[in-house]
Amino acid sequence: MEMKKTLLLPLIFPVFLFAVPIIHAAPGNSKLLREYIGAEGKNVKFSDVPIHSDIEFHFILSFAIDYSTSLSPSNGNFSVQWDKHNLGPSAIASIKARKPSVKVAMSLGGDTIGENTHVHFAPKSINSWVSNAVASLTRIAKEYDLDGIDIDYEHFSSDPDTFAECIGQLLTHLKQNKIVSFASIAPYDNATVQSNYLALWKKYGHLIDYVNFQFYAYDKGTTVSQFMKYFEDQSCNYRDGKVLVSFGTDGSGGLSPAKGFFEACGRLKRLRKLHGIFIWSADDSKKAGFRLEKQSQNFLASIQ
Ligand SMILES: *[C@@H]1O[C@H](CO)[C@@H](O)[C@H](O)[C@H]1NC(C)=O
Ligand SMILES: *[C@@H]1O[C@H](CO)[C@@H](O)[C@H](O)[C@H]1NC(C)=O
Repeated sequence: MEMKKTLLLPLIFPVFLFAVPIIHAAPGNSKLLREYIGAEGKNVKFSDVPIHSDIEFHFILSFAIDYSTSLSPSNGNFSVQWDKHNLGPSAIASIKARKPSVKVAMSLGGDTIGENTHVHFAPKSINSWVSNAVASLTRIAKEYDLDGIDIDYEHFSSDPDTFAECIGQLLTHLKQNKIVSFASIAPYDNATVQSNYLALWKKYGHLIDYVNFQFYAYDKGTTVSQFMKYFEDQSCNYRDGKVLVSFGTDGSGGLSPAKGFFEACGRLKRLRKLHGIFIWSADDSKKAGFRLEKQSQNFLASIQ
């Protein structure tokens, strides 16, 4: 009997070592749908979008941009560029009152401003950018009663360390002062883009709640098995992050719902890696009556 007890120790120890990474792994499935809204001047309203009451639903206002009216970078002085007429403070108060599962975030940057000017991340210095960004974004978050922030810069005039430091310090301030309660980033598979977001992730990943990876920026005609591979690649890049799956309703690329997007979601669900779905964008979905928003939420609602 004594012999057996001592033998157990070396057996338990390796088991414990293997258990540690499992405990630290990102949590499993989530009933979360996120959707970008307001970038394209299509008069889309929050109340147009069907919302399933069993789903956590995030509207992501697109975009707040630190550019002046003459379309040049303004060093962190952000202004609202989404459709303020339909998606203003009173519309936000009203959708939140009617649908308690709704939260609203703003996204920073985006691809273009005006007719077709690329939005560049172009800080003059880390300190001055952060100070201007904190002031302007705090004002916007309070005026609109926002809950979260999303980082979607896609063009860069600075280096990855500067991007990481500016965004990391901004998120630190906004979260510590409870201006926002959640943060996400929206990278896609491009070497420049990834080097910036991975530098941010490496130093400030603990402040980032979701990775809205733009899977629709992959080629059109992506297959289910390619998609699963891309998901694994990005889950390795953004280790321990909640990488969300996504599709576009604007005719962009990736794995479309017609070609097996929900089959891939089913596989991820069984692997307990479906952390949520996001869609670009409500503006584009309006003309088809938000059919895919309904399908996505019904799918998520069926998660046990
Ligand atoms: C920020 O930009 C707004 C216009 O969007 C302007 O009125 C304001 O003066 C600017 N603030 C600073 C500190 O530059
Ligand atoms: C990555 O994005 C940059 C900036 O938009 C662009 O200039 C470059 O061509 C892209 N690289 C690839 C491989 O698509």
